[in-house]
Amino acid sequence: MDIRIERSKKPFKNPSTISSFGEYRTPHFFLMDYKEGEWRDPRIVPLQDFQIGAGAKVFHYAHSFFEGAKAFKHEDGELYTFRFIENAKRFNKTADFLQMPSIPLDDQLQAVHQLLDIDRAYYPENEGASLYIRPFMIGSTDQLGIKSGNEFIYSVMLSPSGPYFGKGLESLDILIGGDFLARVAPGGMGSVKAAANYANNPWLMRIAKKVNTQQILFGSPYIEELGGMNHYHITKDGDFCVPAFTENILPSITARSLLEVASQVGLNPIQKPLLLHEFLEGLQTSKNSPASILEAGGVGTAAVVTPIASYTTILLPPRLDEINNFINCTVTLPTKVIPVQNSPGPYTTKLYELYTGIQMGRVQAPDGWLEKVSRF
Ligand code: PLP
Ligand code: COI
Repeated sequence: MDIRIERSKKPFKNPSTISSFGEYRTPHFFLMDYKEGEWRDPRIVPLQDFQIGAGAKVFHYAHSFFEGAKAFKHEDGELYTFRFIENAKRFNKTADFLQMPSIPLDDQLQAVHQLLDIDRAYYPENEGASLYIRPFMIGSTDQLGIKSGNEFIYSVMLSPSGPYFGKGLESLDILIGGDFLARVAPGGMGSVKAAANYANNPWLMRIAKKVNTQQILFGSPYIEELGGMNHYHITKDGDFCVPAFTENILPSITARSLLEVASQVGLNPIQKPLLLHEFLEGLQTSKNSPASILEAGGVGTAAVVTPIASYTTILLPPRLDEINNFINCTVTLPTKVIPVQNSPGPYTTKLYELYTGIQMGRVQAPDGWLEKVSRF
């Protein structure tokens, strides 16, 4: 692919320390248009607003999807992408599900690597930060039918970012979604990265916040995942358990990677269907036995490894108006808080250190996980 390059005449300065996620940009982004059955005009240009019709399908029917990956600067001063090929494959799976055009893997890799090369000076140097890579595609056909259009825009932007939650290894309190709160409707969309899957998040977070939690664990009777993370728990026997991927779960590259390296910190990787009620029982000490589950957390590109401090269960009424009454304080509902760990547990800490060590080049990475960004 021959990428046209137009350099920014107004490079800007980001703060020298970046601890927030997704707030900052680099001066350039990658763009390519799909028209008349083919991808056209691949280019890296100064970051700018889109000019698309008000009737574009992205605005009306959420014809949009994205990926999230990261690049890291190693001690040799070079940038490395982390398993981006896996993001590129998942990108095409989502494209297929949403009936949008795929992009050859090599072209996706080239777009990201050339963009990273041009904006390499914008790498945030503070500990825990990295260059977050956000590829995305939108349907730009200006036509109000719901069916897929014939014009699309593919873009990649970079965001110098810290971890999604706090400073890294910051514990979260979680609400158990149970039978009434679902992240996605069944049918497979939950297994792809459709933008629409995230549209109900602000609403769900209102309920979570109401009971002093920051995220929701979805899935009943089997555990699924959190809003933007897969879920894991660690048993007293050293099992690292991740729910089997179903049509409602985004197959996380972080979870797959951790399952692959868990034995390096003495954990047995296990991926299977996990019943929510067995998980909740395992967290609690009963008269006859101590808790069999000692640690739990969420994993994802943005969230890295995020420990969970507690789970809150609630018997939500099955009607929206009743939930609204609860949110608006006209009714109260009983909740139960199940504590897990006050501070990050030893295995969670080891997993975090191993994973970030691999990403930063301090620990040997499995073959093919890190790819150096060439100087083009
Ligand atoms: N689950 C959901 C719903 C997500 O949005 C993400 C983030 O990409 C993940 C899980 C974690 O996936 P990955 O580790 O590939 O970033
Ligand atoms: C990521 O982890 O890259 C994601 O896309 C999650 C997103 C909700 C911030």
